Amino acid sequence: MDSLSILAMAAAAVQQRESESLKTTAEFSIRRAQSWDLPLLEYVERSAAEIFRTVNLGFLADGETLAPEVLEAMYQADHLWVATNRFDQPIGFIGGEYLSGNFHIVEISVAKEFQRKGIGKALMTAMVEHVSREGYKSVTLTTYRNLGFNGPWYSRLGFFEVNPHDMGREYLDILASEAQHGLDVRSRCVMRKIL
Ligand SMILES: CC(C)(COP(=O)(O)OP(=O)(O)OC[C@H]1O[C@@H](n2cnc3c(N)ncnc32)[C@H](O)[C@@H]1OP(=O)(O)O)[C@@H](O)C(=O)NCCC(=O)NCCS
Repeated sequence: MDSLSILAMAAAAVQQRESESLKTTAEFSIRRAQSWDLPLLEYVERSAAEIFRTVNLGFLADGETLAPEVLEAMYQADHLWVATNRFDQPIGFIGGEYLSGNFHIVEISVAKEFQRKGIGKALMTAMVEHVSREGYKSVTLTTYRNLGFNGPWYSRLGFFEVNPHDMGREYLDILASEAQHGLDVRSRCVMRKIL
């Protein structure tokens, strides 16, 4: 084989690896979060939460964002991904953690002006690919069962509602903590996607 063919093969292999690890479109890219992204994610989360005002849940838009130590822990565990604009600035993120044998999504947020462009789905796809390779067999989350951008959206992405009592103590604790933060427990549910 001549050196030109070897170079061409190497370039093709790099391209293949890049397309596997990074989703890029004209409007956004998905990549692992870097340490310098972390302080910016609060603004993304706050902007994303504006959508709750449209469904009379404005208190969620005014509430707390994720604690910096929670973001830091997900980042350190390589379980935090960002969507970025063409200036490589974060416009969305997804992060999660190990919970009772599942990969549990702690937060997914896409900044208000970038919603409904497929960024949430792309973040979810990148995360699922990564955690499957790590050996996880299921992804879980808690959400509002009936809000269009929550339960029904997750259903379209392959999640289904499960009985929290079947999921173990940690899931009941999350729902209890959400209730303490003012979320109506009757509207909340645990959803799961089998990988
Ligand atoms: C949930 C969220 C991450 C989705 O991000 P996204 O980039 O808009 O997602 P996608 O573009 O991949 O999918 C959008 C789909 O969500 C649903 N959706 C989005 N906004 C909606 C709205 N206001 N009403 C009803 N359905 C809506 C629709 O099915 C929409 O598809 P469509 O545009 O073809 O109708 C984003 O809405 C968000 O940040 N919400 C605030 C934070 C949040 O709710 N996080 C989840 C906590 S469990």
